[in-house]
Amino acid sequence: MDVSELVAAVGDGGLACEKADKIIENVVGTFSLPFALALNVQINGQDFIAPMVVEEPSVVAAASNAARMVRDGGGFTADADEPIMIAQVQLDEVPDSVRACTRLRQHAGELVSLGNDAVPGLVQRGGGVRGIEARDLGEGMVVLHLFVDCRDAMGANLVNTVAEAVSDRVQALTSGRMGLRILSNLCDRRKVRVTCRVPVHALAADDFAGEEVRDGVVRASRFAERDPYRATTHNKGLMNGLDAVVIATGNDWRAVEAGAHAFAARSGKYSPLCIWREDEGDLIGSLEIPLSLGTVGGPARVHQAARMGLRVVDASSATELAMVAAAVGMASNLAALRALATEGIQRGHMALHARSVAIAAGAAGADVERVAHRIHAQGTISLDGARRALDELLRMQNSIAPLPLE
Ligand code: MEV
Repeated sequence: MDVSELVAAVGDGGLACEKADKIIENVVGTFSLPFALALNVQINGQDFIAPMVVEEPSVVAAASNAARMVRDGGGFTADADEPIMIAQVQLDEVPDSVRACTRLRQHAGELVSLGNDAVPGLVQRGGGVRGIEARDLGEGMVVLHLFVDCRDAMGANLVNTVAEAVSDRVQALTSGRMGLRILSNLCDRRKVRVTCRVPVHALAADDFAGEEVRDGVVRASRFAERDPYRATTHNKGLMNGLDAVVIATGNDWRAVEAGAHAFAARSGKYSPLCIWREDEGDLIGSLEIPLSLGTVGGPARVHQAARMGLRVVDASSATELAMVAAAVGMASNLAALRALATEGIQRGHMALHARSVAIAAGAAGADVERVAHRIHAQGTISLDGARRALDELLRMQNSIAPLPLE
C-alpha cells in the first residue's frame, strides 16, 4: 500500500464529524488517538504489519522490539478454532427443566434450520448455525446455546438475529417464560493459540545477560500464575498490544476485553493468559485467548482509518486477524516482563512520556524533542520542568540575531 494514501486516510482520525453523527447519538465531535504500525510480526512464516491505535507511550516500540526477538527464534506459531459464536436464549419458570433440555436436544435439527433461515447471507458465505447445547441452570432456568459460525464477521448482529428467530419455538418446546436472547461474549469456541520460542541471546539487554532476562521473565510468569493481583497487570500489559490492533481495525474492544478476562478466570482463579517457561535454554511462551474479531461489517464500513487498519494488516480472514492481534498481545507481554525483569519500565517509559509532557507545556514541532530530551536528561519530567525548559529554549532561540538580509 502507498504510505501517502495511508497517511491521508488516517491523518485526521479517519472519521468526519458528519459521519460520526450517523454512527452514534448526541455527537458533539470526534476523539482522535495515535495510529501507529508495529513491525517484525511474523506468524506461521508470514510477515504482517500490525496497525495499532493506543495512547500509551512505549507500547508500539516495545511490541515491535519483542516481535523482533521472537522473529529470531522463527516467529510466532498460531492456530485458531473456527469462528463460532454462541447465541443464548434464556427460559425462566420452566416446569420440568430436565424434560425441557431433552426436548431441545431432540429438536436440534429443527432449531438449527430455523436459525439458518434467519441469516441466509451468512449461510451463503459458508457460515451458519452448527449445533445447539441445552443447559439446565437450576431453579427452573434453562438456557439454549446455538453455535453460529460467523465466518469473517465479528458476529454480534448475526448471533442476536439467530437468538431472536428461534425463541418462539424454544419457548413452545420448553413451556418456559422467555428471557434474554443475546450473544455471549465469552466466545470460548473461538479461541486463538499462539506460541513462540525466543533464543536466549535475543533477550540480552544493556547490562543483563540473556539467561538473566529469560529467568526473570519465567519468574514473573510464575508470580502471575500464583497471584491474581499480578495476573491482572500481566494481562493488562498483554491487552495493551492486543486491544491496540483490535481498535485499529475497527473492532469491538469491550467485547474482546470481557471475553478475555472471563476466560482468564475460568478455573475459578483469575490467571495469566500467557505463560513463559525455559526450554532447552530458550524462552518459550504460550497464549490462549477467545477472540471475536471481524474483517467485514462493523465500523470499518464508515471509518476510514479502521478500513486502512484492515488494509495494512491484510489478513486473509477474521481468524488470521485474530492471530495477528494475539501475537502482538504476546509481544507486548514479553516486552513488559523483559523490562520489569531488568531495569524496570520507568526509564524507557519516562523517556517517551517526556514528549507528551513537552507538548502539554506548549512545545511544538522540533522543540518537542528538544524539550523532552532536556527534561529527561535533567530528571525533571513534569509540566513545570517542561515549561521551564521551553522558556529557556525560546529565550535562546530569540536571542540568536537573525542573519542580515543581503
Ligand atoms: C503498563 O501499561 C503495563 C505493565 O504494567 C504490564 C506489566 O506489568 O506486565 C507494564
